[in-house]
Amino acid sequence: MSFMEPFRIKMVEPLPNPTREERLKILHESGYNPFQIKDKYVIFDLWSDSGMASMSQHQWAAMVDTSEGCINPESFDTFVDSIKRLTGFPYILPVHQGRAAEHILFSVLARPGLTVFSNTMYITGRTNAELSGAIVVDVPCKQVVGGNFNGDLDCARLQEELREVDAGKAIVILTLTSNNQAGQPVSMANIKHVSEICKMHDTPLFMDGCRFAENAYFIKTRNKVYQGVPARDIALEMFSYFDGMYMSAKKDGLCNIGGFFATRLSDIYGKFKRRMIYIEGNSNHGGISSRDMEAVARGLREGTDDGYLKYRIESLSTFGDILKKAGVPLVEPVGSAIYINAAKCLPHIPTAQYPAWALHCALYVEGGIRCKHLHDVLKVDDTNERENPKQQHFIRLSLPRRMYTLSHLIHIGDVFKNILGERRSISGVLIKCPSEHYFAAIMEPVRKC
Ligand SMILES: Cc1ncc(COP(=O)(O)O)c(C=O)c1O
Repeated sequence: MSFMEPFRIKMVEPLPNPTREERLKILHESGYNPFQIKDKYVIFDLWSDSGMASMSQHQWAAMVDTSEGCINPESFDTFVDSIKRLTGFPYILPVHQGRAAEHILFSVLARPGLTVFSNTMYITGRTNAELSGAIVVDVPCKQVVGGNFNGDLDCARLQEELREVDAGKAIVILTLTSNNQAGQPVSMANIKHVSEICKMHDTPLFMDGCRFAENAYFIKTRNKVYQGVPARDIALEMFSYFDGMYMSAKKDGLCNIGGFFATRLSDIYGKFKRRMIYIEGNSNHGGISSRDMEAVARGLREGTDDGYLKYRIESLSTFGDILKKAGVPLVEPVGSAIYINAAKCLPHIPTAQYPAWALHCALYVEGGIRCKHLHDVLKVDDTNERENPKQQHFIRLSLPRRMYTLSHLIHIGDVFKNILGERRSISGVLIKCPSEHYFAAIMEPVRKC
């Protein structure tokens, strides 16, 4: 074990503690769908790292110490100054969370025939772009087993694609780190190359920067050239290659709500600012309160501190080591979350009986753990091969920031060990009531558990 939490605990929240029998009953009543379970019955909620961070005493103090204002709040100046200093972008606008910025940006950029290219677009960005009439094309790099920067975009393919698109009809979004590429980082070389290609084709380049600080720290630890360079300086170099960014502050901003849009393009800024009034509110608060802007300003400072990032990235990799020791097959090196191959964990369950879903149910029963299996899980059918690397046989464990301790992670490792030791007792599941979205599906075990 190599990391230590760089904080001590001042306020505690008791963990929910339903018994195993209660959890079995709760799972049954939820239609064997862990997403339907009330949070108060979940002991470890690893569904998302978003909006779950424990805020610091400095964030809470800044929130209490400000005054609410709706026209020219002082907290807006604090917010803007901190993001300008951090990113180097001159134009900053607040939003209540990341998808609001996506919605406004794509509605501002919308024009007939627009194509959005990305290493991989996050679901809300993709949907907002499509709602605005754009076509979204993912051009991820070829995944290299054990590769350090599997979040990269395929530059050769981007060049080919851009040659086919009419002038002014494309934009590129780089998602850092790349959720749909197992939370893997994007290399500085790739960012630079994508930026050069975009300039050559007169195509704007934006960042989905939810986890930019983690990406910067991965560059620091996975690329010798950046060893010893402060993560903030690495991030500043990253931003210098972009025309702008949007960010949900619910991730690396260490906040429970908030986000922003930042750019160096004055015309896009002007359009965004005019549009947001009808959606998010005045450009001086963007749908969040003054205290939330204080929390974001302070959270971004803390979330880019090298000491904090060392803890954050090492806690993820240590969690990976704990799980590996328990025999869990996962994607390596670990990125911004842990991706586990459920089909390999439960080889006796045919893929048509959703091993990822079955593993998720077992984790809830054995350990009160909720996580996430990936969106298209309900599309699996028996034509899928066991070793098919498609996402649907994977579960993702996200670690909310500054929330769970090392002993929690060790305990979760023990839960996995017990499950894998008794794996044959775990049943596959079938769909009882299908749903468009996995949140609402009702499932049933093939065998009674
Ligand atoms: C990569 C990425 N982009 C955008 C978003 C959307 O942010 P929000 O949830 O604040 O709307 C998320 C949320 O998880 C995300 O992970």
